[in-house]
Amino acid sequence: MVAENRREILRVEHVSKSFPGVKALDDVSLVLHENEVLGLCGENGAGKSTLLKVFSGIYKADAGKIFFNGMETFFKTPMESIRAGINIIHQELSYLSHLTVAENVHQGRLPLRYGFINWKKLFKDTKILFEKYNIDINPALKLKDLSIAEKQIVEIMKVISRDAKIIVMDEPTSSLGMDDVKNLIKIIHALSGEGISIIFISHRLEEVIEVSDRLIVLRDGRNVADFMKDEFDDHKIISKMVGRNITQIYPKMEVPLGKSMLVFENVTNASIKNVSLEVRSGEIAGLYGMAGAGQDGIMAAAFGLGGKYSGAIYLDGKKLRLKTPVDAIKNGLGYVTAERKVDGLILNHAVRQNIALASLNKLSPRGIINYPMERFIAGRWVKELSIKTSSISTQINNLSGGNQQKVVLAKWLELSPKVLLLNEPTRGVDVGAKQEIFKFIQEMCTRGISVLMVSSDMMEMLGMADTVYTVWEGKITAKFPRKDVTEYKLMLAAINRREEII
Ligand SMILES: Nc1ncnc2c1ncn2[C@@H]1O[C@H](COP(=O)(O)OP(=O)(O)OP(=O)(O)O)[C@@H](O)[C@H]1O
Ligand SMILES: [Mg+2]
Repeated sequence: MVAENRREILRVEHVSKSFPGVKALDDVSLVLHENEVLGLCGENGAGKSTLLKVFSGIYKADAGKIFFNGMETFFKTPMESIRAGINIIHQELSYLSHLTVAENVHQGRLPLRYGFINWKKLFKDTKILFEKYNIDINPALKLKDLSIAEKQIVEIMKVISRDAKIIVMDEPTSSLGMDDVKNLIKIIHALSGEGISIIFISHRLEEVIEVSDRLIVLRDGRNVADFMKDEFDDHKIISKMVGRNITQIYPKMEVPLGKSMLVFENVTNASIKNVSLEVRSGEIAGLYGMAGAGQDGIMAAAFGLGGKYSGAIYLDGKKLRLKTPVDAIKNGLGYVTAERKVDGLILNHAVRQNIALASLNKLSPRGIINYPMERFIAGRWVKELSIKTSSISTQINNLSGGNQQKVVLAKWLELSPKVLLLNEPTRGVDVGAKQEIFKFIQEMCTRGISVLMVSSDMMEMLGMADTVYTVWEGKITAKFPRKDVTEYKLMLAAINRREEII
C-alpha cells in the first residue's frame, strides 16, 4: 500500500526544542499514518526520545505544530495524550519494583471491588492478556524478582493493554533476547493489523528494517531521510545516521592471547552448575544464551554477587574468595551491569561524578575529592568516547540513553581493571558509537586486559568474541573458538541441541 493514500493519524510540523546548551530538535517534521509501522533511527542524542516526548505532552516544544487525527492539538500533560490514545513504552523503564507483575501491567486501572483490589480478576485479566501474546511470566511475581528482559516485557504489556491508537516503542528490544524480539515483532504486526499505528525506535538496524513500513532518520536534531520500505537498507540508514559510511562495525583485531586471567573451575551456586571457563589475557570471551539461561548468574558469581559457591574462581593465578563486589574490585575486576539505571549510575549526579567517583575513591582514600582531577578524568572520557553532553557538570538523567551507557563504560574503564565483565555493554548505543566503544575495548585487550562479555546481540558476539561459551539452564553447553563459530551453531547450542550441529 502506498502510505500517501493512507489516513494520517499524527503530524508533527517544524518542531524545535532546546535544553540549556543543546538544540535537541531543530525544525523536525514527521507524519504517521493509520496502520503504519514507522521506524525512527538516529545516533545517540539525535533527538528521537525528545521528539516523542514533545508530541506526547511531556515536553513543551519551543516552536512547531502537532496535529492528531487531523486536528491541531497540544497535549499539556502525558495523561492527556494517553487519554487520546498515544501510548509510549519509554526507553528508561519505570516500574514499581515491590508490586506484582499484574499490578504493574494494570497500573492506574486496577480492578476494584468494594474499594479493594479485586485480585482474582486482576490475575485473571493479566493471564488472559499474557496468553494472547504468548508471554510466559507469572503475574504474581514481584517486579524486583524479574530479569531485565522480563521487566521490559511487562512494560510492553502494560502499554499494549491500554486502549491505544498510537504505540511508540523507544528501544523496546535493547535488553531482549532473540526469542523475545521475534515475539515482539509478531505482536507489532498483530497490532498494526488491528489498526494501531506504531513508531519503533531501535539501534539494532536489522530489527528496524524488518518491522518498518517506512523509516525516518534524524541527525543532530534534524530530519535527514524519509524512506519507504523498498528504499532502505542498513548501509543507507547508517550513512544517513552518522553522515559517513561505516563498513566495519566490529573492529576486531587478532590479539595474541596470553596467560590465564579469569578461571572458573566447576563453579556451582544457587543459579549456576559446574561452570568451568577460562579467559586469557587479551581475550574477549563471550557468554551466549537465551534470556535467563544463566549468563547473568555467571557474571554475578565472578563479581562476588552470586552468594555462596563451591568450586574455585581464580584471577591472575590467585584463588579468590569472593563474598562481595568489594572483594572483586580489590582483585582487579570491573562489572558493567545490564541495568544501568539500577546498578550503574547515580542519576541525580553530574556526568563528572559518575565517571570519576569510583576511581577517585581509590586515589583519595581519605575521602577528599580532588575536583581538578575529577574534571580532568571526566573531560578525557567525554572526548574519548564522544559522550554527547552539554557539559561534564550536566546531570546524568538529562543525557540520552546511549550516552548514559557510555558514562557507565567510562567509569569502569577508568578503574582499569584486569578483567572487565561486560553485560550488554552496548545496550541502546548507536552503530557509530558501538564501533568506537569496541575499538577502545579492543585496544585495552592489546594492553593485556581480559573481557568476559554477555550479549544478546548475536552480531556483536560473532563480531567481537575470540571464544564463545553457550549457556543453558545454568550450565555451559559448548565452547567455540572464533574461527569455528556461526550464527546457526550458537543458536542450536544455546537451546542445548548441539548434536544437530553439522
Ligand atoms: N531533560 C533534558 N535536559 C537537558 N538536555 C536534554 C534533556 N533531554 C534530552 N537532552 C539532550 O537532548 C539531546 C537529544 O536527546 P534524546 O534523548 O532525544 O536523544 P536520542 O536520539 O533519544 O538518543 P539515544 O539513542 O541515545 O536514546 C541530547 O543531547 C540530550 O543530552
Ligand atoms: Mg533516546
